[in-house]
Amino acid sequence: MSKSLAALQVALEGAADAGARTHLLDVRELDLPMYNPEDDEPVGAPPAMVDLCYAADGLLWSSPMYQGTISGCVKNALDWLHVLSGREPPYLHDKVIGLISVAGGTQGLQVINTMEFSVRALRGWAVPYVVPVASAERVFDRDGQIQDRAVEFQLRTLGAEVVRVGQRFATDDSIQREAACKDAAQRVATAAAAADAQGRTFAGESPE
Ligand SMILES: Cc1cc2nc3c(=O)[nH]c(=O)nc-3n(C[C@H](O)[C@H](O)[C@H](O)COP(=O)(O)O)c2cc1C
Repeated sequence: MSKSLAALQVALEGAADAGARTHLLDVRELDLPMYNPEDDEPVGAPPAMVDLCYAADGLLWSSPMYQGTISGCVKNALDWLHVLSGREPPYLHDKVIGLISVAGGTQGLQVINTMEFSVRALRGWAVPYVVPVASAERVFDRDGQIQDRAVEFQLRTLGAEVVRVGQRFATDDSIQREAACKDAAQRVATAAAAADAQGRTFAGESPE
């Protein structure tokens, strides 16, 4: 069994215990076609995955470490999220994302950091707490059952953390970036108009 999938399941249990409704997406099962930017009418698994991601308040990404970085399968799934560019708000705007990597060795932070680049590109927010699972053969047994209680605790904590922060983003309108940007633009325009009027008053003209 995939150990990165097993790690994701533990984190999802943590999210469920924290009150979230969860949905597991296994990229191996999804069997997504290679993303092609010229394919503007995707059907089947890609739009279903994309819609589920867009509907979620929070996401947990779990990638194995392959050749020092994220797996091609996970990267392809992330590339499919590009079809969210036309939505309003676009991409994973204001979604909270928890990051997990699972490596045979101890360099899993490279995978976390690589995924974080994509979180930013997709306009999401990575929670600061991350779980790079090292020595995967020791942590999970052949059936994917977790053997290391400390790592289990870390994964569950990450799941709960995504729910905690995700609830804040989902319920607090004041941190919706689009509204904040419009508000800031309005304030700048008002201040500029006031400064303009004041300047003309000093110059002996009357403001409109
Ligand atoms: C193609 C391939 C490349 C790998 N490259 C690395 C690597 O660069 N560093 C590492 O620590 N482990 C590496 N591993 C080990 C995997 O990270 C480890 O087996 C992990 O549990 C795989 O997760 P999965 O079971 O979800 O595929 C590699 C495994 C495979 C199959």
